[in-house]
Amino acid sequence: MIEKSPLAEFAGQVAVVTGGGSGIGRAIAMRYAAGGGTVVVIGRRQEPLEESARMIESLGVTAGVASCDVRDADALTAAIDGVVAEHGRIDAMVNNAAGNFVSPAENLSPGGWRAVVDIVLNGTFYGTRAAGRHMLEAGQGAILNVIASYAWHGHPGTVHSAAAKGGVLAMTRTLAAEWGGRGVRVNCVSPGPTETEGAGAALWPTEADRARVLGSVPAGRFTTPEEVAESASFLLDSKRAGYINGDVLSVDGGQWLGKAIYSDSSARS
Ligand code: HXC
Repeated sequence: MIEKSPLAEFAGQVAVVTGGGSGIGRAIAMRYAAGGGTVVVIGRRQEPLEESARMIESLGVTAGVASCDVRDADALTAAIDGVVAEHGRIDAMVNNAAGNFVSPAENLSPGGWRAVVDIVLNGTFYGTRAAGRHMLEAGQGAILNVIASYAWHGHPGTVHSAAAKGGVLAMTRTLAAEWGGRGVRVNCVSPGPTETEGAGAALWPTEADRARVLGSVPAGRFTTPEEVAESASFLLDSKRAGYINGDVLSVDGGQWLGKAIYSDSSARS
């Protein structure tokens, strides 16, 4: 449950969150709303978007929905232009929409590769370009891309997603340098295993998978969408994070560092 933030750090501001109908996207949208901001959620399915909007409005702020597939550059651009036309500004763009499944690379069809790369890499660029144009004109804004640590360390079975998220990381750093001098910050948040329906079904479908993933996290637990959203809200808040640009904040309980392979001999009986 997300409660109103006493900081009211986003009062008078406007955010767009792709994939805002569920999971981490919904939690980020809610956290922005808790900070007093207007939020427009974008996604493919109208119903979950409407539910997010109702949850956002319950916090006493304005919500909007735009139903489109982030793979459709024209539709996504029109949706973002529509937000600026209606609300007069865009302060935050969260590229959260993702698609994922685990597949050995040699079995992955070109269609499967394209679906994930189109959503994650191309969709992020389309959203960034559309929002960035308004932000550059206004001379301020924050873009946040949701990635995963395999963007830099790789992971078997995720070649499509890792390549796409690696591209998003390169895009983030490139635009941080390209746009930073014009008031637009671009950062990433990198969640570890997060307790959401989408991630669970795609990445740890069985109890054995789930136990194995859990065993890889030094913190010994999954994270929650709300915990990720708290870090996202920090990066989006230009008062607190105004000097952070082109960086990645890992919210993963130390998972990507915790690849312990040597056993402690003193612990052996
Ligand atoms: C192998 C698969 C597959 C699977 C789909 N495909 N699922 N191949 N194993 N499990 C192939 C299809 O056969 C098809 O190939 C191509 O991918 C496109 O599939 P469609 O179903 O037609 O595409 P579409 O409806 O656009 O679906 C896109 C999707 C889907 C990515 C495949 O899963 C999706 O939209 N997911 C959104 C929700 C989601 O995945 N959320 C999880 C995010 S979690 P052909 O050859 O027939 O064209 C996340 C966290 C990562 O990203 C970090 C963890 C630490």
